[in-house]
Parts: sequence; C-alpha cells; structure tokens
Amino acid sequence: MGVDVLVGLQWGDEGKGKIVDLIANKYDVVARFQGGPNAGHTLIVEGKKYVLHTIPSGIIHANTINVVGAGTVIDPTVLVKELEMLHSAGISTENRLIISDKAHLILPTHKLLDEYYEKQKGEAKIGSTLRGIGPAYQDKYARTGLRMHHIHSGSFKSDYEALKKLHLVLLSSLGYEQNEEFKGIEEAWLNAIDQIRNIECSAIENYLNNLLDKGGNVLAEGAQGTLLDISFGSYPFVTSSNTSSASACIGLGVAPQRIKKVIGVYKAYLTRVGSGPFPTELDNEIGRTLMTFGNEYGATTGRERRCGWLDLPLLKQTVVQNGVTDLVITKSDVLTCLETFKAMDVSGKLQEFNSWEENISSVRDYSHLPQNLKLYLGFIESELALKNTMISTGPGRDEIIMC
Ligand code: GDP
Ligand code: IMO
Ligand code: MG
Repeated sequence: MGVDVLVGLQWGDEGKGKIVDLIANKYDVVARFQGGPNAGHTLIVEGKKYVLHTIPSGIIHANTINVVGAGTVIDPTVLVKELEMLHSAGISTENRLIISDKAHLILPTHKLLDEYYEKQKGEAKIGSTLRGIGPAYQDKYARTGLRMHHIHSGSFKSDYEALKKLHLVLLSSLGYEQNEEFKGIEEAWLNAIDQIRNIECSAIENYLNNLLDKGGNVLAEGAQGTLLDISFGSYPFVTSSNTSSASACIGLGVAPQRIKKVIGVYKAYLTRVGSGPFPTELDNEIGRTLMTFGNEYGATTGRERRCGWLDLPLLKQTVVQNGVTDLVITKSDVLTCLETFKAMDVSGKLQEFNSWEENISSVRDYSHLPQNLKLYLGFIESELALKNTMISTGPGRDEIIMC
C-alpha cells in the first residue's frame, strides 16, 4: 500500500504508457504528476492503439480512477480530443477522471509563445513539441498563470483576457501579428473549456492522502524522461518540469514516506526527439535501421526520433537519481534488426554484442529467450547492479516477461 512511481530513465518514449497500462489494474488510482500534452503514451490493447497525452494510462481498466495532478499543465483542446477518442472506443471516463484544481491551463497564446521563442533561437532551438509547455510553466512560476479552478470562477473570461493581453504584448515584440486563424483557435479553446467544466475538479492531494490512509494504492505515471529534467537534464535542451521520481510528491501533494517502489523504464537502445547532446547517437544507416524497425516516430509530433546505443553512464545516473527499485526494459525485440549491436559501458567504452534471429514477441518465460539476449541483459544488470523485473517483448499489453 502506498505510492509507486513509474518514470522514464532516458529521453522519453521508453514505453512508460505500455507498462502503466499493463500494471494499472493492481492500483486504485493512476495519476499523472507533471508535464502536459508534450507527452505521447501509446497503449496497444487487444490490437487497438490508444495514444494518451493528458489522461493517465490507467484509463483502459474500468476499475481504475485516473487523476491529473497539480504539477501538470493542461490544454483543454487536447483533453477534449482525447476524451472523444476514448468515448468513441467505448471507454467511459465518467466518475473515473479527476483533475487537480491546481493544474495549470495552457492558453492558445502559450503555444504561440512556444513557437516564437523557438523561432528566435534559430539554430539553437530546443526542438520543443510546440505544445506551449515552457510558456505555461513560465506563467506558473511567475505567479501569473491560470489554474483549473479559474474555469469555475465567475471572473474566468476577464482573467483570461488579461493574461492573453500580456502574452500578445510579448508576442508582438517577437514579430507576431494577431490574425483570423487565431480567432478560430481561441474559439475552439473556449469551447473546450466549456466541455471540461463537467469533469471533477478538486483538491486531489486530499483525495489521494485519504485514500492512502485507508490502505489504498496509487501508481504515479511519469511523463518525458529523467534526462529531460529541467534541473538535471542537458539544460537548455530539456522540458520545463522535473521529471524524476521525487517530482511525484510535489505534483500530487503526497509525502516522500508514501513512496514504495520506483519503477524505472528504459529502452534496450536509446532515442531522443528534438535538439541536444546525444553521445552514442548513430547518425547513419544503423540509426535509421533502428528507427525503422523500432517505429521510432514521435507519438505527439510524428517527428523522427534520433537513435543510438544504450548509454550506461547516463542510465546509471538516472537509476541513482530516481532511486529505482524495479527496472523494466523495453524494445529489446527491435535489436534483431541488426546482426551486432553496441552499448556504452559505465566506464565509457563501447562494447559489442551479437544479436539473435528468433522473434521474441511470443516468449513469456525468461528461460526461453535467446542466449545472446540473456548475455546482453546480464551485462546491463551487472553494470547497474540491479535486476530487470520485466522484459517487454513487443508493443502489445500481453507482450511481457515477468522476471
Ligand atoms: P512513452 O512515451 O514512454 O509511453 O512511449 P511511447 O508510446 O511514446 O513510445 C514507445 C513506443 O514503443 C510505442 O509505439 C509503443 O507501442 C512501443 N513499445 C513499447 N514497448 C515495446 C516493446 O517492448 N517492443 C516494441 N517493439 N515496441 C514497444
Ligand atoms: P513522453 O512522455 C520524448 C522533448 C521535446 C524537446 C524537449 C522540450 O512521450 O516520453 P517541450 O515541448 O517539453 O518543451 O520540449 O523535450 N520532449 C519529449 N521527448 N518524449 C516526451 O514525452 C517528450 N516531451 C517533451 O522533443 O526536445
Ligand atoms: Mg512518448
């Protein structure tokens, strides 16, 4: 009983959504604690694909409550689209979705600011998802932002207009001129606000602490990856929230003593979307082979993901920083597309491994894995001094080996 936190140990897209969906039925609540619709979490259940940006990945399980925490930023337009996608797939969200009254709103002008800041940076751009994440967190910390509770207040429209005015002053200094297109976007956003007023919006910190006091359990679902953490990542090529396990306490309003397990998810190789350093990057044919076979295209922006070898010095650091208790490896099935592959060991040397030919997606028992994969897994575990507790063998919910 307590809070388990699941985080990505690399630059995002490690397969967090798949693993959350897989284990969500063991929890009363799944809760997102940071980030916003920059996230794209893919679940494949009974052959059907769901991509979630705001709503936690516990939503497919009928008995799980899903909470969007105070540390998140929400774009109402994206949230409404996600709800429509789920409802048309026959998944009810009624009485199963609670949004923190303290979560911040992403305004249409936050997205414009994201775009214009990136334009101004030119070659030095972050390669952001352009979802308005940075500017929304900027307003949060400048204490000028709008939160979910504002949409239930009588002064919402004037509060919105005041913040928009401030943004437009800034935007015009960056070369933006307001146009007809903006009006349409704003109208859709205001419509979406009207629609999300029906969703339960409350002090989730009280709800979660009461549930935990009664012996309930919570899975905190991280977004992005630890290497994108605003403080500890390769700044400025990071996202605008703290992405590591400790952030679950701040984003949900629960004390550190509540945390039991920290589940760290990592890929058998490495990917990164957007700009920034990537020591083991393969800007060549091998990288493109991994991208093609691994289907490495952003779940939010569709951009090609940069691919490279597993970087154990970085992984070791993120394991320590998060206090990982349970390691989960994903996408080792993809390595069959190469005859040999490499990984950087903790001393910084590239080690070479032989691949295998067997398709491992139907393997459910560790002992049936190809010997060469077992060698690779053993190498990673000895470098990290930690065992894998799950081995994901494909994108589907059932494609998993429990160790
Ligand atoms: P997230 O952001 O961490 O939830 O990850 P994404 O959903 O953005 O990207 C992970 C991608 O890999 C998705 O397309 C998943 O369906 C897929 N995936 C997850 N686990 C595995 C795996 O073990 N093998 C393969 N081949 N694909 C996987
Ligand atoms: P999930 O949860 C991969 C990257 C962007 C960019 C940087 C800053 O699906 O793992 P932002 O829009 O946050 O200001 O962009 O962070 N980024 C991600 N990369 N997966 C994600 O989320 C990401 N969210 C942001 O590509 O480099
Ligand atoms: Mg993703």
